[in-house]
Amino acid sequence: MTRVFSGIQPSGDLHLGNYLGAIQNWVELTDRYECIYSIVDLHAITVPYSPAALEQRVFDMAVGLLAAGLDPERCTLFVQSAVPEHAQLEWLLNTVTPLGELSRMTQFKDKSERAEMVSAGLLNYPILQAADILLYHAELVPVGDDQLQHLEFTREIARKWNARFGDYFPEPQPMIGGGKRIRGLDGVSKMSKSRDNTIPMLGEPEDTWAAVRTAVTDPARVRKNDPGNPHVCNVFAMHEFFTDPEEREEIEVRCQTATIGCVECKRMLAEGISDRLAPIRERARDLRANPDRVNAILADGAARARQIARVTLGEVYDRMGLDYSAHD
Ligand code: TYM
Repeated sequence: MTRVFSGIQPSGDLHLGNYLGAIQNWVELTDRYECIYSIVDLHAITVPYSPAALEQRVFDMAVGLLAAGLDPERCTLFVQSAVPEHAQLEWLLNTVTPLGELSRMTQFKDKSERAEMVSAGLLNYPILQAADILLYHAELVPVGDDQLQHLEFTREIARKWNARFGDYFPEPQPMIGGGKRIRGLDGVSKMSKSRDNTIPMLGEPEDTWAAVRTAVTDPARVRKNDPGNPHVCNVFAMHEFFTDPEEREEIEVRCQTATIGCVECKRMLAEGISDRLAPIRERARDLRANPDRVNAILADGAARARQIARVTLGEVYDRMGLDYSAHD
């Protein structure tokens, strides 16, 4: 069966960008593929973070993913740092990676501009991502469009390594699927924790409303009586996911004719989000009350992932002229 791999950073609360852009798709793919999903804590430590909070964030992410519908019977879910082969393969891939390409990565440029100190880890981030994927010979990688450059880079590393040490790694393909870019509350940039423009996935109705209330709508619509343009409005764009088509058409016309105000439109959206995500919130509550169950799922996932990872690393050692026997 075709293998799928994807990762998500445990960097704060899950938001609708993660949910609509990635997680929903992850859940659907488990019907059709062998899916391996990782909470990538080693990636999360490439920017300033609190060691005391990291463990809780990893746990919260596991709760969110399971609550959103990932079934541990139908996929492998694990924490990246529990499988040391990720970091080991990353080192080996370092040796075939041209420095110039790394420093041209958009995400690196973006993050390093905002950072006080730019670590080598931040620069090497895409190599670790390539290791994540190649370790499992994954052929498909579901991601949002912000990760396409990293995927292209992964294919390039696979080609370079194969050219040097023999054909071994398949070139993984991205799957954008549902993963279109979800814009944040500012209505412009990608919804992202680091930009503080998110709508939480597990928020109670009042938290959802508190976030949605502040969303930027059509900037040209200053007064309630001004007609709006729903096609430039991010609140309208979000209705696509949470409001049925007929109601959406009505909102579209009412916005264009100034017979609905932005506040009412936002109220409808916030209610739609809260209703749709109510079962997920409920499951998250149950899981939080059962940390042993969550930890057992992650431990089992790590053991399964590791079985595959060790075989790959052994074969890579072999092809690179290194002795793997001490690891057996
Ligand atoms: P991360 O943790 O930033 O995001 C996880 C997934 O969510 C998608 N996503 C979005 N999609 C649409 N709109 C948004 N606003 C939005 N915000 C996040 C991301 O595209 C991603 O699919 N480098 C990766 C993690 C990673 C990885 C991997 C992914 C590490 N190793 C191997 C795939 C394969 C990242 O930072 O994702």
